[in-house]
Amino acid sequence: MSTARVLIVDDDVGLLEALPEALLLRMDGVEIDTSDTAADALERIRAVDYDAIVTDIKMPGMDGLALLREIEHARPGTPTLLITGHGEHDLAVQALRGGAYDFVAKPIDRDYFVASLERAIQVRQLDRQVEKQRLALELHARVLEHVDDGVFLVDGEGVVQHWNPAAHAITGLPPEAVLGRPADEALPGWSAVGASVPVASVPGPGSTEARTLPLEIDGRELWLSISGVAFDDGVVYAFRNLTEERALEELKGEFVATVSHELRTPLAAIYGSAQTLLREDIELDESRRASLLRVIAQESERLSRIAGDILLANNLDSGRLHLASTKVDVQQLVAEVVDEMRSLFADREDISLELNMPASLPPVSGDADKLRQVLINLVDNAVKYSPNGGRVEVVLEENESRLRLIVRDEGLGIPHGEQQRIFGKFYRVDPQQSRGVGGTGLGLYICRELVRRMKGRVSVTSSDGKGSIFVVELPLASAPQRQSDPQVGQRA
Ligand SMILES: Nc1ncnc2c1ncn2[C@@H]1O[C@H](COP(=O)(O)OP(=O)(O)OP(=O)(O)O)[C@@H](O)[C@H]1O
Ligand SMILES: [Mg+2]
Repeated sequence: MSTARVLIVDDDVGLLEALPEALLLRMDGVEIDTSDTAADALERIRAVDYDAIVTDIKMPGMDGLALLREIEHARPGTPTLLITGHGEHDLAVQALRGGAYDFVAKPIDRDYFVASLERAIQVRQLDRQVEKQRLALELHARVLEHVDDGVFLVDGEGVVQHWNPAAHAITGLPPEAVLGRPADEALPGWSAVGASVPVASVPGPGSTEARTLPLEIDGRELWLSISGVAFDDGVVYAFRNLTEERALEELKGEFVATVSHELRTPLAAIYGSAQTLLREDIELDESRRASLLRVIAQESERLSRIAGDILLANNLDSGRLHLASTKVDVQQLVAEVVDEMRSLFADREDISLELNMPASLPPVSGDADKLRQVLINLVDNAVKYSPNGGRVEVVLEENESRLRLIVRDEGLGIPHGEQQRIFGKFYRVDPQQSRGVGGTGLGLYICRELVRRMKGRVSVTSSDGKGSIFVVELPLASAPQRQSDPQVGQRA
């Protein structure tokens, strides 16, 4: 233990010399200061954090009891021993009630005095250590409050004893729902997952590799990278939320699967047609040759559109895409696109593609190329998802300083639950339903993003089996730009 500092206060100068000498003879590692008045003592006490104070109870001016009160105030943790005169039993009791650590009666029994003082010093130093540890613990707790990783402690009985704010934020489970409850009960799915979490017996880096495991909470699947460290009375677990990374990983997988499938289909058609055209052993008539060449042209077109869509979606994501903002003559643009689409789908005799628009319309502000792409995607869908044919109608109309571009079909329709999701990237409604109809699931995602960037919105109404209506609304070039416009009709 470090050197202990003791202050002795007594108006009896003789005692003030004798006592320290006696103490120094019997005790190791003490440093003793003396004061002959309470006032002087108080000044020292304020300046030095003593390990113990010894004071006479009866002194002129401020007496020992008054000094004790001041010490309680200035240094509440410092043990104070009072020296009482012979027979001053009442005073001694009063002193103890006032918070004195002990009293020593005159004539002083040196052995008792030393023993009591040593105990007082020990208590004080232990107090200090406890305080230091408490502060350290508090600091650790504060650190835990602020780390981004979820941290929780499961004690030997399997009960959750600590649950930091990050754990709350990641899982959505507040501490009151978890603390004091068995982990198996408080954390749904823990009973299945807990056993797979790697637990190290020594803390420190590299002691265990965290594992990424799924934990289902409130119907939400969370992927957590989690590991634990075992202590005498439990395990501390730390985890990190990898759900988004996981979803991205899955999306990437889906993307690769969809795209390779989407690329293979037109490639196979092109390859097959080219092979047939190259064969010398069979005579092809003119119309057969033309139809094979048309397949090659159409499928190459499809390939380049897929590549273009992937690139465009990527540019939209990274914010690298810049749209022009010019006055666009929508009537002309829409008429052109409808003509193009009619010849593209010339072989779909079961589809009638119609265009309805007023005699004149004001221009919209936007990007002509991108608007063309939006319309192509919508008409392409309308035809593609009308496997039994029907009418596909493109309508242009003006509505409260906005232009409405409507693409209506009588095809498969979209189940209500899917109507928000079809605008998502790579999202395709149940592939079984649209069997035989390929696609990357990028078309509507691109539409929504492009229209959003032209300060417009796109929405859908449809009922399963009864066709769909897609509406694109765009600001007219003359209209003042609205600031707080909702960005899209459908939040996907
Ligand atoms: N007019 C429509 N009628 C019925 N379903 C539709 C219609 N338009 C889109 N869908 C559904 O929404 C999904 C997403 O459409 P989107 O245009 O984004 O992708 P895609 O057509 O599958 O692929 P891509 O457009 O890239 O070729 C489609 O797979 C389809 O299920
Ligand atoms: Mg499409």
